[in-house]
Amino acid sequence: MPSPPRLLTLADLSVPQIKRLLTHSAYLKNNTLPWLSTHGSLSFKRANDLSLPSQSLFGKSIALLFSKRSTRTRVAAESSTVLLGGRAVFLGREDIQLGVNESLRDTTRIVGGMCDGIFARVGEHSEIEEIAKYSPVPVVNALSSLWHPTQVLATLLTLHEHANAFGVNSSTSTDASQKRLAYKVPLPELPSLTIAYVGDSANVFHDMLVTFPRLGHKLRVATPGGREGQYGAPTAVWDRVVELECDKNDGIWWGTNPKEAVQGADVVITDTWISMGQEAEAAQRYKDFEGFQVTEELCRVGGANPGWKFMHCLPRKQNEVDDEVFYGPRSLAFQEGDNRKWTTMAVFDAVFGHWDLDGDQWLT
Ligand code: CP
Ligand code: NVA
Repeated sequence: MPSPPRLLTLADLSVPQIKRLLTHSAYLKNNTLPWLSTHGSLSFKRANDLSLPSQSLFGKSIALLFSKRSTRTRVAAESSTVLLGGRAVFLGREDIQLGVNESLRDTTRIVGGMCDGIFARVGEHSEIEEIAKYSPVPVVNALSSLWHPTQVLATLLTLHEHANAFGVNSSTSTDASQKRLAYKVPLPELPSLTIAYVGDSANVFHDMLVTFPRLGHKLRVATPGGREGQYGAPTAVWDRVVELECDKNDGIWWGTNPKEAVQGADVVITDTWISMGQEAEAAQRYKDFEGFQVTEELCRVGGANPGWKFMHCLPRKQNEVDDEVFYGPRSLAFQEGDNRKWTTMAVFDAVFGHWDLDGDQWLT
């Protein structure tokens, strides 16, 4: 029997698979939102009577095995599982025997024996690798020390929804809010974008590193100390970048000066300087990241494209981006947050609802 699929990083997916997930996200979003406004909340109707786009999780339970805090990822998972007809079982670190009385291996085997998928948020990346190794059911990474794949799908869906802002002719662009059957229609193509990342080389950014260049976008990065410095890419991440040839063809420029990084940028992205678990390093990090706050001034002096957009995975602190940018018209951060639901729904539909990522089965 083939082993169940796992999605630990977007580096695990081909470009067609990533595009298919994005198209499917748009399809689910555009077919579910009108349904909800017509029918209100779900009733006790049988799943087959429902005209929701997919009920692939009907009768299924998805374990949310979370050892770290979460707002967006948890709510996206719970609210999309219910729309797919299933039930999410939240297992926080205070709730279960894991880590006190029971090993990760044994917990995984037991949870996977009763549930139909595991969505896990862990500390070290090796923990999710261990879960994937021993799980009898599919596993999706809900954030680890190295990667955050479901976040970057939401970044990408949001960029595609704003394709017009990047100079795509509206006649060739799909207006996602109008298309009811978007899954048969390709997403609006994005032109090749220059995307600046200013901040810490952390999990969310790592999935951008292995994805954006493959989709034809250029990354311009600034971290204190540069790529090989303390805040640069871990070897395990850079190995995947090289394996996927994302560092070829000027795909990635990486320096130490945020102003240089935003030169010509269509999009400027950052993340917290203090990821979960790094709280003890806060004082040193605030010192080291001085001058890295994303502001209008930084992007004007650095020569970003005048129409640049801002993105952030959230949660956000003022240190890495000021209020003017974060709450201003350039910011796509809250749309990106909303899109966590639809991209998570697409991943769950594909990976937990249908195990065949290469067939068209899960799109019909
Ligand atoms: N962006 C994100 O993953 O947010 P949460 O930590 O709140 O899930
Ligand atoms: N880099 C952040 C992302 C939060 C979604 C962290 O790991 O805390």
